[in-house]
Amino acid sequence: MTPAQSQLVETVQQRFGPKVATTEAEAIAPWLTDWRGRYHGEAPALLSPGSTNEVAAIVALAAAAGVPLVPQGGNTGMVGGATPPTDGSALLLSLRRMNRIRALSPVSNLAVAEAGVILADLRTAAEVAGRRFPLDLGARGSATIGGLVSTNAGGTQVLRFGTMRSLVAGVEAVLPDGSIHNGVAALKKDNRGYDLNQLLIGAEGTLGIVTAATLRLVPGAAARAVGWVGLESPAAALQLLRMLEAGTSAVESFEILPEKTLALVLRHVPGTRRPLATAHPWHVLIEAVATDPTAEAPAALLERLLGPALERELAGDAVIAASEAQAEDFWRIRHSISEAERAGGPALQHDISVPVDDMPRFMIEGGAEAEARFPGTEAVAYGHLGDGNVHFHVRAPAGVDPQVWYAEDGPGISRHVHDMVVAAGGSISAEHGIGQMKRAELERLSAPSRMTVLRAIKTALDPHNILNPGKLVALAPDAARP
Ligand code: FAD
Ligand code: MLT
Ligand code: ZN
Repeated sequence: MTPAQSQLVETVQQRFGPKVATTEAEAIAPWLTDWRGRYHGEAPALLSPGSTNEVAAIVALAAAAGVPLVPQGGNTGMVGGATPPTDGSALLLSLRRMNRIRALSPVSNLAVAEAGVILADLRTAAEVAGRRFPLDLGARGSATIGGLVSTNAGGTQVLRFGTMRSLVAGVEAVLPDGSIHNGVAALKKDNRGYDLNQLLIGAEGTLGIVTAATLRLVPGAAARAVGWVGLESPAAALQLLRMLEAGTSAVESFEILPEKTLALVLRHVPGTRRPLATAHPWHVLIEAVATDPTAEAPAALLERLLGPALERELAGDAVIAASEAQAEDFWRIRHSISEAERAGGPALQHDISVPVDDMPRFMIEGGAEAEARFPGTEAVAYGHLGDGNVHFHVRAPAGVDPQVWYAEDGPGISRHVHDMVVAAGGSISAEHGIGQMKRAELERLSAPSRMTVLRAIKTALDPHNILNPGKLVALAPDAARP
């Protein structure tokens, strides 16, 4: 620990008590490696403030001492954004203790949640009040509001409700000099120039520490139906989605996975069962929700709309969950894919988007091309087809050393996949962010003007590079620090 770090820890402990700063290796260790196990860092201390004022004081002290901080929520991020640097130069700043839902009103349809509130807890609280917070993902039991805001997370309901950016109505944050930005008031109209709230959403902790957010709620579900469809191709799946959309606006989720991915889940996740009697090349999970109790029941609606799809052989087979328990079983398969993928061995993850109508072609041709170019690999694409966003994973041939596989230049697979994405007019990060995983690729594939603006924003807000240095956008190292 450097003298500046040590002094900072001591001051924080004196002012706020021992639980707000620990240097115990055992307490810190679980937070030094990312969820996928790809990145590992070092941090001599873990700071855990319990209020916005404590965060503000810590950031001000860190700024004055030139000690960088790495903000962290549930540590479920997919791009190494919450993993500290390997040289121990930064302290971890956990927001997990700030886990209060300050307000939740079915009248305003808003909730004000502190950064450390866990997604599942917010969803439950909204349900108790007869409302829903319509963002869901496999990490719902650990991911926090601060992390979700800071990555502009997506998930499995974006099709209907959008990403965090459309669900955040206000942000409270501590800026890199320790001042507090109070933007929690949910103003429908506010044209005071640049929108700082929007700037902080998706900033990955590089521009401010999110301490609370005001979140939009939607009407509670009167009934839902979850269907599982087996079909021939992503093109058939997209046609099916368009057909459903022409008949109803009740479809909230439409998630695709290939047979290979379903097989991986069935192999690695205990208690999962194949929803249809036989294998199909591709599978789609569909959720339809009715918020009006007098509307057509979603199960009947799905049945009515899927019938013609089966007759036209757009779908090979389909089943609608007969109970809530079966609906949960279908969702469990979908939400366990990341877990199964992790258990399946080293794979390069690409979280990509291309224009929706081109996605079926990209999934088939891109996968075939990657496998042909890198013999022994297996490429799979699954996820949010309706958003034009899939997770395109390329698994290493058996026996490959993960260190070699994940090395910066590795076999050049990620560069190849990203080149294909750019050629298709897409994005190399649809929902997980840039973190440390994609920083070099962002630099390589962005127009210079884009990188100039990103750097200018970072430099303007965080001139001393105190918050999450080395993530998202690189500044000249520590030169500017006091
Ligand atoms: P962390 O991992 O702790 O941090 C993520 C980033 O945000 C880091 O850069 C960190 O520095 C920064 N950060 C965290 N808290 C704050 C704060 N309070 N202020 C400022 N910066 C902060 N993501 C999707 O978008 N869609 C999915 O479908 C999806 N599915 C997933 C499924 C599984 C099983 C897992 C493990 C992850 C999945 N993710 C998904 C990724 C992940 O859950 C999201 O990125 C989530 O938003 C991270 O939240 P967190 O609290 O764990 O943040
Ligand atoms: C998901 O959609 O399941 C996650 O975003 C995927 C991932 O593990 O890459
Ligand atoms: Zn996803």
